[in-house]
Formats: sequence, structure tokens, C-alpha cells
Amino acid sequence: MSIPTPTKADHFSFGLWTINWTGGDQFGASTRKPFDPVYVLEKLAEYGAWGITFHDDDLVPFGTPDAEREAIIARFEKALADTGIVCEMVTTNTFSHPLFKDGGFTANDRRARRFGLHKVIRNVDLAARLGATTFVMWGGREGAEYDSAKDYFAALDRYAEGIDTVASYIKSNRYDLRIALEPKPNEPRGDILLPTVGHALAFIDRLENKDIIGLNPEVGHEQMAVLNYTVALAQALWSGKLFHIDLNGQKSVKYDQDLCFGHGDLFSAFGTVDLLENGFPNGGPTYTGPRHFDYKPSRTESEEQVWDTVKANMATYLMLKERAVAFRADPEVQDAMKAAKIDELAVPTLAKGETIEAFLADRSAFEDADVDALGARDAGYVRLNQLALEHLCGAR
Ligand code: GCO
Ligand code: MN
Ligand code: MN
Repeated sequence: MSIPTPTKADHFSFGLWTINWTGGDQFGASTRKPFDPVYVLEKLAEYGAWGITFHDDDLVPFGTPDAEREAIIARFEKALADTGIVCEMVTTNTFSHPLFKDGGFTANDRRARRFGLHKVIRNVDLAARLGATTFVMWGGREGAEYDSAKDYFAALDRYAEGIDTVASYIKSNRYDLRIALEPKPNEPRGDILLPTVGHALAFIDRLENKDIIGLNPEVGHEQMAVLNYTVALAQALWSGKLFHIDLNGQKSVKYDQDLCFGHGDLFSAFGTVDLLENGFPNGGPTYTGPRHFDYKPSRTESEEQVWDTVKANMATYLMLKERAVAFRADPEVQDAMKAAKIDELAVPTLAKGETIEAFLADRSAFEDADVDALGARDAGYVRLNQLALEHLCGAR
């Protein structure tokens, strides 16, 4: 298999903050300088990417006077047109400035919340202006280190109030924008509210404007909580809430590594791409949005080598796509899937029109069931998984 070349049709997009991460961490200073955002757009176009995403502060530094802000945005807008790169998603930084140390929407101090809400709403206008269709909200500082310091009930009320206010602003301006919440269990806070996809889905269901509020699940964030990312995507799809995705790599439970896609749990990445590209085996909703990377080029890499990491994300995705398509097309795989009764799971447990009374009266289901034979039936899941692995490794 040769290394595939991405094109715009693949809909790959990158966060401006990913490519421009300068490598500073708690233990060491930056190892690189950021690129001019216009240069980033030019390079992305050159390498076959399709889209860009950014936080307000990635493009316009916090506190920039209005006239200067407008000049920066206008220059970026022109570069988008010149390069053909699509600004598909915009997000707001409510975590870097010290004023956000206790959150943007759930800080105990009401003044911090009013500032945060205003900053987010101003950025909604920018997102609409640049034609973005998704507005991601990652509440990295919405949380606590100490249970004694936060009224979690009130915090959830304020979180819901903030998100619903932003959603109603979007609706009243008739912007073609949907909000995508991004769950994360911890880091930078000790505990973050909406820690997993499951928590966020339950939260969204309580919101007034839930029709335009969905999810932006990230690979590493679910894996930090020892969860299966593909299962999270599946439930988000099942709920009609998979609005956007953040692809990256994570090796087990540790700090948020933000490795290149596939550089963490590769077999899980295969399962993810299989779902994204091939859909559920028995049909159902599919994800048609951007293939968005939220990773960090490791701080060991030079400025020039940042572009190797950009290419790595896209090439890995395309290789996994090729492998996943071959996997599903393989007659032996289809035979193994049939033997594993994957199609039978789509058959409802009760027959069409069957009442609960009729079901309970069916002695073959319970009283006369051959439980020993049922217990002894074969599944063949390991054979199927080995076939997946052989395709992943390029052996088939
Ligand atoms: C993180 C998050 C962020 C968000 C970004 C978009 O762990 O730092 O993944 O990168 O995705 O803030 O809202
Ligand atoms: Mn992350
Ligand atoms: Mn993310």
C-alpha cells in the first residue's frame, strides 16, 4: 500500500492552535515560534487540507483594540478566500486569561461569568461572519479542584443558562450555526463538568435550545476516562448529536497527550474510522462532518517538522480508511460477520405487533428454552477481530 495523498474532498481540518502550539508546558519553555495564520492557511491548502478552526485568541490576541482586531480578521478573511480553505468551526478561549481561573460560565464570581458570556457571544458573530457552521464550546475551566469550593447544582444551572443564552442568540440572529459541546474529564481543572460524552448527552437533553446543541467528542478525552471513543461516537450518532469530532492519539490513562491520530491506540483508531467511513453494519445515521484534528505537534519537533505531523494525521486517517473499506468488502469478513449474527441484532426482540401478553405466553422463549444449548452457542468474535487486525496490518 502506498501512502495516500489527501485532497479537499476528504474534508480534513485543523485547529490553528494545534499547528501553532509552541511546545511550552509546565516543565519547560516554548521550543518553537508560532506561524503567521495566513501562512498556515497557505500550507494547509498545499498539503490537501480543506478546513481551519480557531479560538478567538488564536487569531486575535486577548485585549487587542477593536480597529486592530478588525484589520487582523479582514486579512484572515482574504487569505481564506485566496487559499480556498474553509473556516468550518470557531471556538472561544475561556480558559487562558487569569480571569477565567474559575471558569467562564460557572465561576463563583458573577463578574467573571458576565465577561465570559460576552466574550463568547462576540465570537459567535465572528463565526457567522466567516461562514463557520459549528461553534464548539469546551469548558476546560468549568470545574473544581475541591468539592467544598463549588455548588455543583448551581454550577450546572449556570452552565445551562450560559449555553442556552448563546443558543438563543444564534437563533434570534438566524445564524446557520450549531453548538457542539466538548466533554473532557480533567485537565486543566482537577474535575471538569460534563466529563464524558454520556454526561454531556444527558445535560443537553435538559436544555431549552437542545435542537441546535450537540457534541464534539475528542479521542483522547474519552480515553483519559478509560472509555471507548468509538462507543461514544456511536451513542452520539444514535442520539442525533454527533455535530463535530476532534481526532488525535492517546496512550492510556495519563495527561492529555494530543498525539497525532493513530499514534495512540491504533486498533481503536481503526474502529473509529470504520464507523466514520462505513457506518453501522446494519445501517443508521452516519457522520458527514469535517475530519478535524485537535492534536499537538510534540515539542521535540522543529518548526519545519510541524508539517510532517500535519501530513501524518491525514495520511494515517486515509490509510485506516483504505483498510476499513477493504475489511468490510472482504467476503471472508462478511462470512464471519454473518456467523457472528451481527445482522440478527437489527431484528427487534419482539415480533411485529406482538403484545407483552403474547410474548410472555410464548413457552419457547422461556419455559421450554434449551438454556444449555444457548449457553454453548458459538460467537466467532475473535475470528472476526483477527480478520480486522489482519486488514489493519495490511496482511490481507
Ligand atoms: C483541550 C481541548 C481543546 C479544545 C479547544 C476547542 O484538551 O485542550 O481539546 O483543544 O478542543 O479548546 O474548543
Ligand atoms: Mn484535548
Ligand atoms: Mn479538543
